[in-house]
Amino acid sequence: MKIQLSSLDVLRARTDCLVVAVREGTQQPPTTRKIEKASKGLIQSLIHSGDIDGRPGSVLLVPSPMGIQAKRLLLVGVGDKPDIDDFASTTLVAARQLCSTRSVSAVVALTEIAVTGADAGTRARMISQAIQEAGYRFSELKTTKGKETARRHCTVKRITLLSDSTKNDSAMRAGIQEACAIANGVALAKDLGNLPGNICTPNYLANQAKKLGNSHKLKIKVLDEAKMKALGMGALLSVSRGSREPARLIVMEHQGARRSDAPVVLVGKGITFDAGGISLKPAAAMDEMKYDMCGAATVIGAICAVAEMKLPINLNVVVPACENRPSSSATLPGDIVKSMSGQTIEILNTDAEGRLILCDALTYSERFNPKFIVDVATLTGACVVALGHIRTAIMSNNEDLSNNLMDAADKASDKAWKMPMGSEYDNQLKSNFADMANIGSGYGGSITAACFLGRFTKNMKWAHLDIAGTAWKSGAQKGSTGRPVPMLSEFILNQSKKNS
Ligand code: BES
Ligand code: MN
Ligand code: ZN
Repeated sequence: MKIQLSSLDVLRARTDCLVVAVREGTQQPPTTRKIEKASKGLIQSLIHSGDIDGRPGSVLLVPSPMGIQAKRLLLVGVGDKPDIDDFASTTLVAARQLCSTRSVSAVVALTEIAVTGADAGTRARMISQAIQEAGYRFSELKTTKGKETARRHCTVKRITLLSDSTKNDSAMRAGIQEACAIANGVALAKDLGNLPGNICTPNYLANQAKKLGNSHKLKIKVLDEAKMKALGMGALLSVSRGSREPARLIVMEHQGARRSDAPVVLVGKGITFDAGGISLKPAAAMDEMKYDMCGAATVIGAICAVAEMKLPINLNVVVPACENRPSSSATLPGDIVKSMSGQTIEILNTDAEGRLILCDALTYSERFNPKFIVDVATLTGACVVALGHIRTAIMSNNEDLSNNLMDAADKASDKAWKMPMGSEYDNQLKSNFADMANIGSGYGGSITAACFLGRFTKNMKWAHLDIAGTAWKSGAQKGSTGRPVPMLSEFILNQSKKNS
């Protein structure tokens, strides 16, 4: 999809679809008024008949509108004074409607709407991101090219955003560029998440990382099981034992600042399929455990976005990747393993495997002396109970870091919420036989999981994002969401601004 900025005459624009805002207040925005006049009161009459109102999220597609050159007119209710969240949801509804038409080109005038907390650049970015979000399809594994597939396909190729005023043009162009980089990162994360376990194996992830390394000028290193064994990664390898697919530890580096600058490190859980191991999961919806590598997918998506934006920051990504399966060689409940940190772990439930691969990846990452380290993981079902599919959970040992992440989440409309930690929870990890157990003895499972990781990050400014609820959708809309690539990209963007 190509997105550009222009100050063309909307009445003369020969486009497949002109997208225009309808406000809830009395005064309509300039473009809407222009069209109103040229069409001899079309919009007012549609408001009068009740076909469209200014409520946020209401949309109406008008085919062959008279008085203007565009083939279609898409009216979009934007409310009175939208904030960032209103605008994000409104633009997404509008973009979905646009993508359901057969339009190839579109001119979008939503840029002229005032949004609380968003300047012209941010608005341009939000609109551009929404259109690319709505245009995403995952059809590489469908072979039928029938009518059904053609209808589901998004035809939109060229978008023109209407320039707000020339003084904002450079900010808007920057916003469009950021949106394209972030949307590419989101699409990449979705693709990786949507691929099934028989294709997206640990080795597949490693090979994708190498490919992306070439296209995005990233330094890539892949460790095999022998190297991990030599490093003492007994926790990670205990998860991989039950699988014939060998584990991989993937390291990706974007160097955008001086070599001596401490990097931000992102660690992503890469369980390419989580059957639970010997503590086998029930059959219902087990297929969804192909998404258990969405932490990996999103940190890979984020580093690609950051590289594409050429941000002046050093960013490293570390992905422990393996399968969690039952087999005659699989780890047994009660087994005790030694992590890379030297701490021993009693594995009471082999389905609590994410923390086992992450703890070794976190210890490994200490070698980078990170400025901040953030792990991203579909870690606990308890997180879905706590926050649903709406917000990502943030747990951290550093207030500054968790605040920065919260701010980024709000700004990117990729919502999160801080959850507590503390010794009352951490005490639940006590084991009679090893330094700790891999599960807590009570409720609050997302927090005890974070406390487990906290035992491996004492020397670093660390945050943990539990994306079990936000990384994918179930039901008719089943699929990977690409979250929290927008939040992570925003966070890194803000960090890089502090650098320059
Ligand atoms: N990958 C799952 C977490 C998960 C469950 C994510 C459901 C999304 C939806 C994780 O590896 C897991 O199995 N966690 C267990 C931990 C428990 C055994 C302490 C869980 O949440 O049930
Ligand atoms: Mn599990
Ligand atoms: Zn898992």
